[in-house]
Amino acid sequence: MKINNLVLTFAMVAVVFAATAQTNPEFARQVGHEGTVLLKNRDNALPLAKGAKVALFGINQIDYIKGGGGSGDVYVAYERNLLYGMQEKEKAGKISLVPELITFYRDAFKQGSRCINEPKISAELMRQARQKANVAIITIGRYSLEGSDRSAEKADYYLSDSEQKLVEQITAAGFEEVIINLNVGGMVDTQWFKDNSKINATLLSWQGGMEAGNIVADILTGDAYPSGKLSDTFAKSYDVYPASASFKESPYFVNYQEDIYVGYRYFETIPGAAEKVNYEFGFGLSYTDFAISNISAKEVNDSIFIQATVKNNGSRKGKEVIQVYFSAPQGKLGKPARELAAFQKTRELSAGEEQIITMGFPVADMSSYDDFDKIFPASFVLEKGNYKFYVGNSVRNTIKAKFEYKVKTDRAVFQLSHQVTPKDLKKRLLANGSYENVPSIPTAENFELSQAQKAQSDKFLTLKDVYRNRSLMPYFLAQLSDEELFILSRGRANNAYSNTGGMGYLPHRDIPNIITADGPAGLRIGRMNYKGEPIATAFPCGTQQACTWNPALIEEVGKREGEECIAMGVGIWLAPGMNIHRDPLCGRNFEYYSEDPLLTGKTAAALSRGVQSKKVAITLKHFCCNNKEEKRNESDSRVSERAVREIYLRGFEIGVKEGGAWSIMTSYNLLNGIETSENYSLITNILRKEWGFNGAVMTDWNNNSHHAREARAGNDIKMPSSSSKTLKEGLNDGSLTRAELERNVEYLLNMFMKNHLFENTIK
Ligand code: BGC
Repeated sequence: MKINNLVLTFAMVAVVFAATAQTNPEFARQVGHEGTVLLKNRDNALPLAKGAKVALFGINQIDYIKGGGGSGDVYVAYERNLLYGMQEKEKAGKISLVPELITFYRDAFKQGSRCINEPKISAELMRQARQKANVAIITIGRYSLEGSDRSAEKADYYLSDSEQKLVEQITAAGFEEVIINLNVGGMVDTQWFKDNSKINATLLSWQGGMEAGNIVADILTGDAYPSGKLSDTFAKSYDVYPASASFKESPYFVNYQEDIYVGYRYFETIPGAAEKVNYEFGFGLSYTDFAISNISAKEVNDSIFIQATVKNNGSRKGKEVIQVYFSAPQGKLGKPARELAAFQKTRELSAGEEQIITMGFPVADMSSYDDFDKIFPASFVLEKGNYKFYVGNSVRNTIKAKFEYKVKTDRAVFQLSHQVTPKDLKKRLLANGSYENVPSIPTAENFELSQAQKAQSDKFLTLKDVYRNRSLMPYFLAQLSDEELFILSRGRANNAYSNTGGMGYLPHRDIPNIITADGPAGLRIGRMNYKGEPIATAFPCGTQQACTWNPALIEEVGKREGEECIAMGVGIWLAPGMNIHRDPLCGRNFEYYSEDPLLTGKTAAALSRGVQSKKVAITLKHFCCNNKEEKRNESDSRVSERAVREIYLRGFEIGVKEGGAWSIMTSYNLLNGIETSENYSLITNILRKEWGFNGAVMTDWNNNSHHAREARAGNDIKMPSSSSKTLKEGLNDGSLTRAELERNVEYLLNMFMKNHLFENTIK
């Protein structure tokens, strides 16, 4: 879908956060507060009363999880677990803890107890704890990592037997309040506490990075307040998620039969699904109460503007997120009952304070893609009828605006051509819960070959010459030998501290090694400070960042990350992870943002603006439909073109158009039978031609794909390395042209020239 470059200047609300004077870990702590979601708080059990006597249960208080594993890990100088955070509060005289429990868990940890396997609490220890404490806090942790998926079993999505037992023991012990802390990277079961009258409060604190324990302790004690909202739907059980039947059907393919009905688009639309939700998308409580009123909506110049007043009616300060959903007429294409159109977090509002919020979005954002050519072939269509708007603080808790936007006759807002069409997907879900067959519609291939540069120059040119006079680019490219083009078309070994390598590095052509490093929760890099400690900051995981619903805050995260990249000699940050939370079990969901593409795209675009303001490239990854880890190099994602465009590409499109991303990483998986990195339709037709992307396209690391086919498709560089052999063969047998290689290298060089690592060499 096309996104207008709508400048909502009057809608911009100055978001106040006292960020600049903070160190990065202190700032990460603030991000954590904003991304923590309060799921339950009966009788205002939280925040704890001053002087509360707390019994802290669960091995996770020591074995605390700062983030997930794999390339998304961050090497840090220290990690604050929950016990540490709570002991700091005890030192400050805010609470007291039960020393016998601390000793017990420390000993258990020393003896090898880790998350999932709770050490057994004796009746005597429980009696002592109850005697000394009025509040019990149980903390539960879950870890997952790249390369494998989670399971819908006990000890992963569900509680383990020992955790279940611990919960039963505690809820039977007669504490005045029982509070749950969830230190998880993805969706987990919520059924066990939702309606349990013996459990008073639940905090979804995610994996909060190196300051995780402090973040939770701040919130529990009221030194900070939670203002996060769910970026996913939390359902009553795993098996009611629409993708659950197909997620593990085969290691070699995934049928995306639920189509566009992912997350709340499914639960709010499909008959009978609504009652299967425990906590809806966008939901999150606060320590205070907000009221939303004076809702008005209007259309101006093909954009919808919504205004609302938010008032803090409670007695504590807090922040609220105002969310706008639209509902399009069902028409011939069928539509989700609700779709997120815009959102805005308030500034911090004191008790009694109010704020007027204005938000806007283009009418075209409400169109749907006609992939089966029912109305206007291969077009985004606004079907005739009334478009309705709902404003509130979750997908369900909304008020309908009086204004409705009327479309008199069906209108094609963007006419495109068929790309990435499915070959093996047989059926897909419709809004009424039935399925329709997927017809075979071919992709418009249209390879276009440009001419190789013939421009001659007598002077031996370097990239510095091109930087000073951009019109020399064709001459420069023409001068590069085939071998130089091959070298630039593949990654390079490190000459810095990261372990992901670099690109470029032709010293005689003044091309430095542009070093990459992983993300997205921070920089994965081995560089030490003078004390021999790693110096990267581990921020809250991607999902927690999305749960802030605060792009201005995330832009500041980006600036901080950009500065760390500069300090560590990194030119390209391999973040953000933008794959959609199609299913709760994807092992990398902690890196990714949401089930919703708009929230995903806005968060990524904000991060992108922040990082790139420091002349460091961002990398939108993994492009696209890498929503599962098992056999990710071989798995074919079979998806309708509509779902690809409306759900799986939309976030990337926002990242490109609103975030101005300088680079993008293709994924390991196949999309409708074709490797994404070899996919001309995806990379050249959609990304480059439809969206106007002029940054660089890189592969994911050590993928299975064929380098010459990738180069032809427009995947500019193979990471982290490759030989010249395949490219040479391609040139020899005509399956690749020199013009294609020059085109790819030009994109890379243009990206290098914006980079601080290159600009440093100019000074
Ligand atoms: C991951 C990427 C990562 C790359 C480099 C791959 O395994 O999928 O997200 O950036 O490794 O570490």
